[in-house]
Amino acid sequence: MTLLLHLADFNERRWADGFAAALPGRKVVTRADSYDPDEVEYIFIWKPKPDAFEGLTKLKAILSLGAGVDALLRNPSRPVDVPIARFMDEDLTQRMSDYVVSQVTMHQRLMTRFKRDQAKRQWRQLYPAPAWDATVGIMGLGALGLDAIRHLKVFGYKLRGWSRSAKQIEGVEVFTGTEQLEAFLSGTDILVNLLPLTAETQGILNYETFSKLKRGGIDNEGPVVINAARGGHQKEADIVRALNDGTLKAASLDVFEVEPLPQDSPLWEMDNVYITPHIAAASSERTGVAYFSKVIRDHEAGLPLPNVIDFKRGY
Ligand code: NDP
Ligand code: OXD
Repeated sequence: MTLLLHLADFNERRWADGFAAALPGRKVVTRADSYDPDEVEYIFIWKPKPDAFEGLTKLKAILSLGAGVDALLRNPSRPVDVPIARFMDEDLTQRMSDYVVSQVTMHQRLMTRFKRDQAKRQWRQLYPAPAWDATVGIMGLGALGLDAIRHLKVFGYKLRGWSRSAKQIEGVEVFTGTEQLEAFLSGTDILVNLLPLTAETQGILNYETFSKLKRGGIDNEGPVVINAARGGHQKEADIVRALNDGTLKAASLDVFEVEPLPQDSPLWEMDNVYITPHIAAASSERTGVAYFSKVIRDHEAGLPLPNVIDFKRGY
């Protein structure tokens, strides 16, 4: 059996060494090594090149280093009948909740306003309202959305969530499907996107969505959007327009339509935009190697793959 690593933006060699140590007796190779494509049974992959799967005729499973698999699903050389198992992991989930909590609390504590005052050396006292005056709306109630909710609850925020299928979550007002999207948005002060990127969710963070968010919430200045999922969810021209005309008060963006964010993007210049370079929740080498080594060993022993993507749903 050969495990092939195809990782962009990660240290492929180091991950390969980790897998080799955890999977004795198996051949672990990177794209730089020589190997027989006909012997590759597993590929561990992130940011696939268009020809990533060419020649891999014996593939049994595609193992996604990322929790999001949209790029894999779009890949033109992907064998469509080979299952994709994605990474789901406490370490990654905690990092995402850290990001979400940090951005939500920053906005609820009016940091955009205080930062502006600081730039002008202005001492203007304004007391932020308590957390329970703000409603945080989470789009996507999966592994990451639910964990973010668990963490935000502790701070006292009012919480609402939106997903495709109906759910009951204690202390959270849950909205379901496109029919209830507007109702969900109308009570949300801080919108957090943790959806997978699919045909249905592409471009969902647009001007129309922003204009349906609650008015007069935090600080009486308008709602906030936090996107930690995928750049394909957002229309950046609409974000700029909404920030300029007050439809949005501020935005925290970890992901972008084009990454790296182009130098000429107007977002760089805006003092009410908080940019991070797609780092909200990285996959850890230590837990990633342990997780997928077990997945491979179990699968070889005849057990089913965990966290398999449903091709029909697209996530
Ligand atoms: P899950 O698959 O566990 O959860 C997805 C959630 O979105 C589910 O609740 C699902 O509804 C809901 N959903 C999907 N489609 C729709 C729709 N059309 N309308 C309403 N709700 C919908 O995903 P995760 O929580 O693990 O991850 C979410 C995304 O976060 C990933 O796909 C990835 O793109 C992104 N991500 C970003 C990272 C970063 O560093 N910026 C790091 C890791 C992930 P239902 O429950 O009904 O199925
Ligand atoms: C992921 C990511 O999907 O880091 O895991 O974006």
